[in-house]
Amino acid sequence: MDYKILKTDLSDGILTVTISRPKALNALNTEFFNEMDALIAEVKANPEVKIMVITGEGKAFVAGADIAEMVNKNREEGTAFSKLGQNTFRSLELLDIPVIAAVNGFALGGGMELTMACDFRIASAKAKFGQPEVNLGLIPGYAGTQRLSRLTNMGNALYLLMTADMIGAEDALRMGLVQKVTEPETLMEETLKIAKNIVSKGPQAVKKVKQVVRKGYEMSLDEGSALEAEEFGSLFGENSEGREGMKAFLEKRKPEWG
Ligand code: CAA
Repeated sequence: MDYKILKTDLSDGILTVTISRPKALNALNTEFFNEMDALIAEVKANPEVKIMVITGEGKAFVAGADIAEMVNKNREEGTAFSKLGQNTFRSLELLDIPVIAAVNGFALGGGMELTMACDFRIASAKAKFGQPEVNLGLIPGYAGTQRLSRLTNMGNALYLLMTADMIGAEDALRMGLVQKVTEPETLMEETLKIAKNIVSKGPQAVKKVKQVVRKGYEMSLDEGSALEAEEFGSLFGENSEGREGMKAFLEKRKPEWG
């Protein structure tokens, strides 16, 4: 499919998706969500895609939901626009492959919410994070009120949501919102290095890590541990990925994942 806002590049199993609407600082409109939904469907159907990296073109990652599109909406339309974004971000989060946010600049409002729907975040030292919705008399609409406290903690979430403070990459790192900060020039190089490293691991194991950690987060410790034991077991046996990985270790060779 041809996309207007999303630029895609697939190489060595890594799908790089660049959000490209730089005149509006990549603000998220209905067209973006329609394109992202279509892309997610394509990714699900394409086994060549092993991992996805999302970044933004220009000085922003994404400066939020499109304020110009939202301004004249009524109550029902406001709720619908929230659900549209929530559904897309949830589908992204539920993809079985890893999704990394490479945060190049402003990640505000819906932009920060998009980064939080990714599995983890690598940030340029120039990145800025914030949930400025209260400045507009709004609250986040793409599950930012839910994911921020889960990813960091209740105090950080309420602080950022109530003050609308814009924080830099180092503060985001300290809060546990991002996992690594890079020099601006090396953001993509370093993110792709991380993606390549993950692609070299047992592909089933990587998918199961995502599935078990994410599902387990919603479960009790005992239920989550039971799920882990099941999935651990599923990687054993003849022709399994675990058998190959362990045999390769013992035979001092690189595993062939098949
Ligand atoms: N929606 C629509 N347009 C936006 C936008 C947004 N979220 N953010 C920036 N733009 C547009 C600006 O209107 C401007 O357009 P024009 O050139 O046509 O005037 C263009 O992008 C460039 O922006 P600025 O001139 O403002 O650039 P700057 O460098 O001076 O400031 C900024 C950068 C601090 C990010 C500033 O643009 C800003 O504060 N943007 C809004 C951030 C925001 O409030 N985001 C939350 C949106 S609400 C939301 O996301 C709700 C939700 O969860 C669903």
